[in-house]
Amino acid sequence: MHGTDTSRLMVALDVPTREDAIELAGKTGEYVAHFKVGSRLFTAEGPSLVRDLKTAGYGVFLDLKFHDIPNTVAEAATVATSLGVDFFDVHAAGGPVMMKAAVDASREEAARLNTTPPKVLAITVLTSMSSTVEEVLALAERARDAGAHGIVSSAWEARAIRKALGDDFLIVTPGIRPAWAAKNDQERVATPEVAIANGADYIVVGRPIRNAEDPGQAARLIHQAMTPAELVR
Ligand code: C5P
Repeated sequence: MHGTDTSRLMVALDVPTREDAIELAGKTGEYVAHFKVGSRLFTAEGPSLVRDLKTAGYGVFLDLKFHDIPNTVAEAATVATSLGVDFFDVHAAGGPVMMKAAVDASREEAARLNTTPPKVLAITVLTSMSSTVEEVLALAERARDAGAHGIVSSAWEARAIRKALGDDFLIVTPGIRPAWAAKNDQERVATPEVAIANGADYIVVGRPIRNAEDPGQAARLIHQAMTPAELVR
């Protein structure tokens, strides 16, 4: 069985090869809402891996952080939509016209294919960099006004964003470190529980699961920590 309706866990498939990705997905899929395919894996394995993950029944967040002139981003958004991904992202710093171009293009392609359009997330500030809440809030508001479905931001800003932008705006938070995991290069880390309490809809976890001795167990523990007791299987 893949994922659950109740899972808020996105796992970053930051691995070098298709085999590693399929293996990690197989070990953790039961607890995962979406697998995040980022630039490393996508550059190595390309769209066929994304199609294979979708065919296997997994949710996919295509994390290529599009940031270019609006026309180029719109064309990339069209292709991402045709791949059937559930989420993709763009840099909020690319500006409102670029973000709107991505949202419009994915809607049009989904209508043409008679499918559900992917959710477009805007990257505010990378969690490895420092920023102010004001900066992140301003970017989040621009993203919302441009039609983005949500944002990627650190758990530290999630509460302020939730308060300012309301319940309909998705918040996806990387930079997650359970108490038992190493911080690595992430600056503004939070535990899964704190991220959810701060208003995150989904958390993105990479190394704490990928580098764990037992990735399936790590995914299970993180899923459990975020899920109300009555929903834990
Ligand atoms: O290994 P770790 O849990 O730090 O992985 C976090 C993942 O989230 C990485 O794939 C990274 O590229 C991504 N990410 C991030 N900060 C953002 C957006 C995405 O760390 N603002």
